[in-house]
Amino acid sequence: MSGSEVERREAHQAAVDALADVAPEPGVAKPDPILSASGVRRAFGGLVAVDVERLEIERGTITALIGPNGAGKTTLFNLLTGFDRPSRGTWEFDGRSAKRLRSYQVAQAGMVRTFQLTKALTRMTVLDNMLIGATGQLGERMWAGLLPWLWRGQEAANRARALGLLERFQLADKRDDYAGELSGGQRKLLEMARALMLEPRMVMLDEPMAGVNPALKESLLDHIKELREEGMTVLFVEHDMDMVHEIADWAVVMAAGRVITEGTPEQISSDSRVIDAYLGAHHDGAAR
Ligand SMILES: Nc1ncnc2c1ncn2[C@@H]1O[C@H](COP(=O)(O)OP(=O)(O)OP(=O)(O)O)[C@@H](O)[C@H]1O
Ligand SMILES: [Mg+2]
Repeated sequence: MSGSEVERREAHQAAVDALADVAPEPGVAKPDPILSASGVRRAFGGLVAVDVERLEIERGTITALIGPNGAGKTTLFNLLTGFDRPSRGTWEFDGRSAKRLRSYQVAQAGMVRTFQLTKALTRMTVLDNMLIGATGQLGERMWAGLLPWLWRGQEAANRARALGLLERFQLADKRDDYAGELSGGQRKLLEMARALMLEPRMVMLDEPMAGVNPALKESLLDHIKELREEGMTVLFVEHDMDMVHEIADWAVVMAAGRVITEGTPEQISSDSRVIDAYLGAHHDGAAR
């Protein structure tokens, strides 16, 4: 077992302290950002999906990225992790410009993400999915035949790491099953475990709890807290405010491509801009 309750509380307290003097304003500077983005914009034809003037993510904290459907959260993730290219903008990860890096280079630089729709490679075993994580690349067709050659040099070390992570995420007994046989929740766990193969300093999780049953949700929340305890920075997208309150040190709110506010979960839940954004997004739908 990694980490005691005491260590967990200390990591949490350190994150709270780091953010204690940060004002709840969009784009506000943080004491020690691991990721900072400026003027990041992405348009699809006439639709501006992302238009983030400034965003800093504090090192060692759990930050939630929230906002109504279509706010631009996934697009921002795609841009920052090299899965999409911006119309303009720059960003730095851990002091180095990351805007020209390809997705696998971003992963190798220490920033790894998971996907809203899990990308577990269904026709590969759970263990092979983990070993692909060690390369920082995804793509079933591309890797199906190449995998054995790729990991040969590092096989023993990668295998040991993979098995350790599968143990930690309660997937060890599934290691030889096809990933396609796992439940939705188990695939989310597999994706998180796979993201850790590269020993990242930052993990970005796009709706890690979506479609996961309540029991597994608790375990996912624990795993996320554990990442902070180990010194990692976590940025995660989530719609359920209870989850945000339970684990996030800070929350960033997007609407229509922009960061409209940020602050502690308590601060943003009483912010009228947030309420307006959600009401606005459901304008033509039923009131809720
Ligand atoms: N490849 C694309 N081509 C055209 N439009 C896109 C593309 N990707 C996203 N969009 C549009 O950009 C906007 C932002 O989408 P995005 O998926 O980033 O939102 P989101 O905040 O992740 O929403 P959700 O909470 O539903 O996942 C939406 O209007 C979406 O339709
Ligand atoms: Mg999304």
